[in-house]
Amino acid sequence: MGKTVQLIHGDKTIELPLVTGTEGEQAIDISQLRNSTGLITLDPGYANTGSCTSAITFMDGEEGILRYRGIPVEELAENSTFIETAYLLIHGRLPTRRELTNFSVMLNDHSLVHEDMKLFYQNFPRGSHPMGILSAMVNALRSFYPILQDAREEADITVTRLISKIRTMAAMSYKMSLGHTVVYPRPDLCYCANFLNMMFDNPVRSYPISQEAVDALNVFWILHADHEQNCSTSSVRMVGSARVNLYAAISSGIAALWGPLHGGANQAVIEMLEDIAASGRDYRHYIERAKDKEDPFRLMGFGHRVYKTYDPRAKIMRRICHKLLAKLKVSDPLLDVAQELETAAREDEYFISRNLYPNVDFYTGIVLRAMGIPTNMFTVMFAIGRLPGWIAQWKESAEDPKWKLSRPRQIYVGPGQRAYIPLDER
Ligand code: CMC
Repeated sequence: MGKTVQLIHGDKTIELPLVTGTEGEQAIDISQLRNSTGLITLDPGYANTGSCTSAITFMDGEEGILRYRGIPVEELAENSTFIETAYLLIHGRLPTRRELTNFSVMLNDHSLVHEDMKLFYQNFPRGSHPMGILSAMVNALRSFYPILQDAREEADITVTRLISKIRTMAAMSYKMSLGHTVVYPRPDLCYCANFLNMMFDNPVRSYPISQEAVDALNVFWILHADHEQNCSTSSVRMVGSARVNLYAAISSGIAALWGPLHGGANQAVIEMLEDIAASGRDYRHYIERAKDKEDPFRLMGFGHRVYKTYDPRAKIMRRICHKLLAKLKVSDPLLDVAQELETAAREDEYFISRNLYPNVDFYTGIVLRAMGIPTNMFTVMFAIGRLPGWIAQWKESAEDPKWKLSRPRQIYVGPGQRAYIPLDER
């Protein structure tokens, strides 16, 4: 028998298995806890709960480490492309040249969306948030592409279809929101360049694709490609555990990502920086507000459930931000506000004692703005990047013969049994 920990409850002592991961992190396996003691665990927000074992992403929040399939995210950001990283996450290893070419060809072949889907877009009320539209459209893909088979080849096509079509759908929603003609994907462009072209090209002014923007977008999407069991990924796994189709599971992930405490923070950061810049007030006023427990205001783009040091993705994003702005010769006043806020927060006892550092979202908004991406599309950009991670995590669950329906328990604290009182007697 492997290592165990002892739990003493009343006059009973039980042995609970200890599980050790590749990097030495340990967990107590409580899967037999209720059967043997009648007890359950209580962990609001799951900060102490591992929901699965996984071979996809390793992160160490204390050391600021993030690796996909063992490869540090810094090395991927430096050397890889988003598409190669997506392959790595989904298939567990880097592709050979041939596999990468096949993947690219398939992404090209599946990049169009059904023309009838345009009608959907037209019927969303003006001003609808693109994340709501994207979540609905991805769910709707199941109706347009109903054949989901178990064969490996079919599963690969579904996955490729999603990765390819999500960028077409995202760009399409932007164009339709402007009332402009949709720009179709081009076979001669890579994934990132194609997306930018679909967003910004138009019949009367062709879009000059900037290599700097393409490179920055590649890194942005690589950095967002997976982040182990975060809120949206856990939603994908949980909804998927009911054995819904992949499109529905991903659609739930998009809905979860929309929230301002999660992916929606990138939009919230820019809105906050714009407010600070427009108010003309000293940024220290906002630091004080963030510290005030009576004020719901938080410094967006700061803090993280897992990272208790500088988010490694934020370090790279900050560097990319400076590089892109310099190459594009863009001067963004919001970058100055962001840097001043960061410096002030990092010298402030409140932020130091709580280990609150900039997270990935703090600088991404400025990078996206420099590319011309409108603010309400920021979280959509995150969603496109996170898609390979969601797929890899769903696939890992689906291939596990012991995949169980996710169904947490609770401790009931409502009223005890009481009688129904007829309406006239209340
Ligand atoms: N501004 C001010 N105070 C903060 C902040 C912040 N951004 N984040 C945490 N705190 C304080 C919080 O008030 C609490 O203080 P106290 O101990 O006095 O009650 C303490 O720090 C711990 O915070 P928590 O809310 O218990 O920690 P958490 O792990 O539940 O929250 C978080 C993590 C990301 C929700 C939170 O830091 C936050 O709301 N940040 C702003 C939103 C944001 O930037 N989200 C993007 C996360 S990265 C992208 C992604 O991967 O989704």
